[in-house]
Amino acid sequence: MSNHYPFVLAELPYKYDALESVIDRQTVEIHYGKHHQSYVDNLNKILEGMPYLQNKTLEELMNSEVAAIKNNAGGVWNHNFYWQEMKGGEEGEISVDLGKRIEKKFGSLVEFKALFEKNALGRFGSGWGWLVEDNEGELEIMSTANQDNPLSLGKKPLLGIDVWEHAYYLRYQNRRAEYVGSWWKVVNWEWVGKR
Ligand SMILES: [Fe+2]
Repeated sequence: MSNHYPFVLAELPYKYDALESVIDRQTVEIHYGKHHQSYVDNLNKILEGMPYLQNKTLEELMNSEVAAIKNNAGGVWNHNFYWQEMKGGEEGEISVDLGKRIEKKFGSLVEFKALFEKNALGRFGSGWGWLVEDNEGELEIMSTANQDNPLSLGKKPLLGIDVWEHAYYLRYQNRRAEYVGSWWKVVNWEWVGKR
């Protein structure tokens, strides 16, 4: 996939109803087909009039000082990541390597999940909850507002949950905690472990 203008909507790696155990088909259809698509379209529209930015990568555009570029580039990157890190079918198991690192840092997988959920619930308004790795390879839990991304702070995302209402409102309404708590069932740990 090309990583500069014109950007295209990355393919959804499964069917719209694949995540049904946690995220209903209609939410995926709207979230992917409308929200994610508009970040792609808006970014292309802006860059159309800025030829000098057309060879910049998505990651470079995420650091733009122009809010509309930064927000839409972040929206594209974050949602590419979100669809990839999930999967349908049986609940997966965390890889041995990552499992060990998580235990070392957070005590246990259960404690890690509790902290990750608390952090995602604590994000006021729209944003994302993340598990990231810093330059020294140290794991950290953090959140970002809007479509900001940890990469802009020099941290590499390993896992990220979208806590914008558009990600869960149809099924969960205001119950963000229920969405975040159920979300583990569709995490593609194999993909996450490879990062
Ligand atoms: Fe979203």
